[in-house]
Amino acid sequence: MRVFVAGASGAIGTRLVPQLIDRGHEVIGTFRSPAHAERVRALGAEPIALDLLDARAVRQAVLQTRPEAIIHQATDLADVRFGRSLDRSFASTNRLRTEGTDALLAAAGEAGVRRFVAQSFASYRYAREGGPVKAEDDPLDPSPPAMARQTNAAMRHLDQAVTNAGGIALRYGGFYGAANDGLVKPVRKRQFPVIGDGDGISSFIHLDDAAAATVLALERDLAGVYNIVDDEPAPMREWLPALAKALGAKPPRNVPLWLAGLVAGKGMVMMAVGSRGASNAKAKRELGWTLRYPSWRQGFTAAYAQPDRLRART
Ligand SMILES: NC(=O)c1ccc[n+]([C@@H]2O[C@H](COP(=O)([O-])OP(=O)(O)OC[C@H]3O[C@@H](n4cnc5c(N)ncnc54)[C@H](OP(=O)(O)O)[C@@H]3O)[C@@H](O)[C@H]2O)c1
Repeated sequence: MRVFVAGASGAIGTRLVPQLIDRGHEVIGTFRSPAHAERVRALGAEPIALDLLDARAVRQAVLQTRPEAIIHQATDLADVRFGRSLDRSFASTNRLRTEGTDALLAAAGEAGVRRFVAQSFASYRYAREGGPVKAEDDPLDPSPPAMARQTNAAMRHLDQAVTNAGGIALRYGGFYGAANDGLVKPVRKRQFPVIGDGDGISSFIHLDDAAAATVLALERDLAGVYNIVDDEPAPMREWLPALAKALGAKPPRNVPLWLAGLVAGKGMVMMAVGSRGASNAKAKRELGWTLRYPSWRQGFTAAYAQPDRLRART
């Protein structure tokens, strides 16, 4: 298929494009930062500069390149600073998930694009009640913390708009598998503590497995929402020390809820403590997806293991 990948130069895009090409697809890859044109070309895609927030430019790019499929992987998180408000940190990503998605869907409709797959997110979204692991049909959190309301609404918008149009929304777990993953620095510096009892559950996914699931989602004639997470949703008290160990860092500190609330804000604590994990049963069953890293336990080690001489410097 001729596939238009919006956000080809990002963390997931750069893993996805080579897998698509290996499967015989022809890829048009978009980037935003001018310096990233070469990165996209080197992956084997035809590079196109595109700001997804410019609906006219989106329409023009899609009509000109005439793809049979579109995969939306654009976020704006590379230089993001995380503070007390997730909505502030995610403001432009939220626009990419609402306005960007709408612009791509409109252009897709006009150009007769047959398949549409878009990036969504699984962790911290399901209702903070009942069992620890949630399936796609389980309710989403009806009352997210005030500082994450717009972010949750943007993901909901994407899920609904894409599936209403007959496409697939992939609710990925937390990405890992690159040297510059977001958690690497804070965990190395012991700035990312276990909060309270560390009960909150997270779901992770290695970038290579996320890309493999995305290729399958493109190739299957299906519509709907799929959790793309590994087999082992886990509480923070388990995965965080394992991540520190894989990075060769000291074990994480533990902070009580009241202190975490003071430092990071109550909203962050609410999310971290009450979060639920996600089940990948539907993706395995319907997409025929198998994972190279079924658990973050082996995945973190594989992703971050370094020769001793390098570890000594970090
Ligand atoms: N599920 C998850 O856990 C999850 C999801 C997303 C990201 N992340 C993490 O966040 C970090 C940063 O992600 P990233 O490296 O993928 O960078 P990013 O800044 O989020 O960019 C992702 C892609 O979107 C493109 N993009 C950004 N703004 C755009 C716009 N206005 N219009 C069109 N395209 C636009 C980028 O182009 P340029 O590269 O040219 O700027 C890039 O191709 C990584 O550590 C990643 O793993 C995690």
